[in-house]
Order: sequence, then C-alpha cells, then structure tokens
Amino acid sequence: MERTFVMIKPDAVARGLVGRIVARLEEVGLVIERMELGTLARETAEANYAEHQGKPFYEGLIAYVTSGPVVRMVVSGPGAVAIARKLIGATNPADAAPGTIRGDFGLTLDANVIHGSDSAASADREISIFFG
Ligand SMILES: Nc1ncnc2c1ncn2[C@@H]1O[C@H](COP(=O)(O)OP(=O)(O)O)[C@@H](O)[C@H]1O
Ligand SMILES: [Mg+2]
Repeated sequence: MERTFVMIKPDAVARGLVGRIVARLEEVGLVIERMELGTLARETAEANYAEHQGKPFYEGLIAYVTSGPVVRMVVSGPGAVAIARKLIGATNPADAAPGTIRGDFGLTLDANVIHGSDSAASADREISIFFG
C-alpha cells in the first residue's frame, strides 16, 4: 500500500475533465483518499516545483498552475506512485502514448493536464505541502 499526490491542473479543470480523469485513476483500482478543489497560492506552487526554480520555463509554470482552480488529491494503492505516473504518461503530451491521460487530453507541454509525484519520497513531500 502506497500513497501518491496527484493534481489536475487548471487547464483540465477549466475544460470540465475532472470526472473523466478521476475515473481513470479509480478504474485501475487506485483509491482517492483526499480531494480538494482550489486555486494554489504562489508559495504552494513554488514549494511543489522547487526543483525547477531557475529553469527557463519556471515562471510560466508557476503562472500556469496558479491561473485557476486545481484539484489536488491523495491517491493510494499498491505501487500507487508508479501506476499513477504510468496512467499520466510522458511529460509532453505530444510524446505521451494514446491511452494515457496526457496523451488523450493534452496537446502541449505548457498545459499538460495533470501532475503526479515521481517517487515515494516526492509523494511524502508533496502530500505534506498540499495537505499538511
Ligand atoms: N520545457 C518545458 N516547457 C514548459 N513547461 C515545462 C517544460 N518542462 C516541464 N514543464 C512543466 O513543468 C512540469 C514539471 O516538469 P517535470 O517534473 O519535468 O515533468 P513531470 O510533470 O512529468 O514530472 C511539467 O509537468 C510541465 O507542466
Ligand atoms: Mg516532475
């Protein structure tokens, strides 16, 4: 049993994709333990993406993820971190396989639909950033 952090990004919330994306997670048997809708404070977005600070896309990324409501979730199940990343697909929707969330619902890297923790350690860190 493992927990991961998943966030449906503002573009996907605005497009009304929340139900379909949550269904993808539930269909494989992952369990939604917590779920909240709201717009991120800049400090929260900065904490989540601290590893990218200073990169050319960083300011755009922070502006994007704080541009409207997101849905943040704690998701659990055996191997939840890797399973969620597999369902989410490659970072750039242009490279993400059909059948993945980014492959099916995204077009461009700057609005790539969803975030998922990349390791168990990241999951612990991100869950504490978003849920205390
Ligand atoms: N070159 C880029 N241009 C614009 N946005 C980017 C770029 N690289 C990454 N991003 C954004 O930053 C987020 C975090 O990047 P990264 O951790 O590499 O990917 P992932 O979300 O798949 O773990 C991506 O999901 C995407 O929204
Ligand atoms: Mg990442």
